Amino acid sequence: MANLTGAQAPNPADIELFRTLAAEHLNAEGKPNITRIARLMNKPRRTISGWSIRYLAADDAPRIEMPAFVVNGDDEEPIDEILNRKEKLFERKAKANADRQWFEIKVNETRPYGILLVGDPHLDDDGCNVPLIRKHLAYASQDGVYAVNIGDSSNNWVGRLERLYAHQETSKHTGKRLVKWFMLESGASWLCWILGNHDVWGEGADFHLMLAEKKIPVIDWRAQFTLKHPSGTECRIDASHGRKGSSIWNNLHATLRSAKLGELADCYVTGHTHHFGLEHLEIAERRHACWLVQLRGYKYMDSYALRNGFAESQLGSSVLMIVDPSPDARTKVQCFEDVDLGMQVLGMLRQ
Ligand SMILES: [Fe+2]
Ligand SMILES: [Fe+2]
Repeated sequence: MANLTGAQAPNPADIELFRTLAAEHLNAEGKPNITRIARLMNKPRRTISGWSIRYLAADDAPRIEMPAFVVNGDDEEPIDEILNRKEKLFERKAKANADRQWFEIKVNETRPYGILLVGDPHLDDDGCNVPLIRKHLAYASQDGVYAVNIGDSSNNWVGRLERLYAHQETSKHTGKRLVKWFMLESGASWLCWILGNHDVWGEGADFHLMLAEKKIPVIDWRAQFTLKHPSGTECRIDASHGRKGSSIWNNLHATLRSAKLGELADCYVTGHTHHFGLEHLEIAERRHACWLVQLRGYKYMDSYALRNGFAESQLGSSVLMIVDPSPDARTKVQCFEDVDLGMQVLGMLRQ
């Protein structure tokens, strides 16, 4: 039979004879004596030399041998090293997570001070109530007033929703500029920023974390933290962009649920739903009093709310919380939906 080169395949009997002779006739180096075997078989020396390469290899020897980068792999990190690295990563993440559990912020105030609880800003939305938020930010820039951002600082449309940029005046780029200004240049003394659903879409979480690096705690969705005063008193705040549960009868349903079933806090504040609720609640069975705050935010004339039949709240874009750090305060926290009035009261209390 001719092979692909046109040469005749050797006769199996010839190969058998060749193997026998190759075992019997060795040269001084212990290898088959090619010249003698060629003469004995009456074949050209070149043919016998070729057969010695093709047919004398041990049957279990590989016919082909791949280069080292195939057999051993050349750019794959060893699994042990991957696991060592992941172990350290897990330890760092676990520590970061533990550090955020009821983290402490020192507020060096001896007189009553204000915290503006800022509802969903949606700064780049055409319906953002800019006059109102500018007025509130001016308050948050005053001495003795601080601020907490409940999240959804911009629309930050992504994916299928990105088409909505065609229906709003502010571009994605300008939206980011507004957020940067809001965090770093608006004058507000931020205690904490919560990231809402809009904030984390796409690369949003990284964007906010990089902006705030080493300046402001930026916490995804829910932050529970304690304000520590020089007097030794403290104020616990549970701030969550959204919460589990809803009720058409009670705007504070989800916030109340956290207060009743969750850990004790002096103020539970929630955003996300764009409606308002406020209550000073005593939970007698837990011997505890707290405030429930559902912030309305600054997004007005919302077409989504219109089409889905949600009536538009007018109150509670932000709420001003006044904290009295003195040890003998009858009521540690007071909250004002009317931020103007709250600022007047704060002014009197700080005199
Ligand atoms: Fe929102
Ligand atoms: Fe939201």
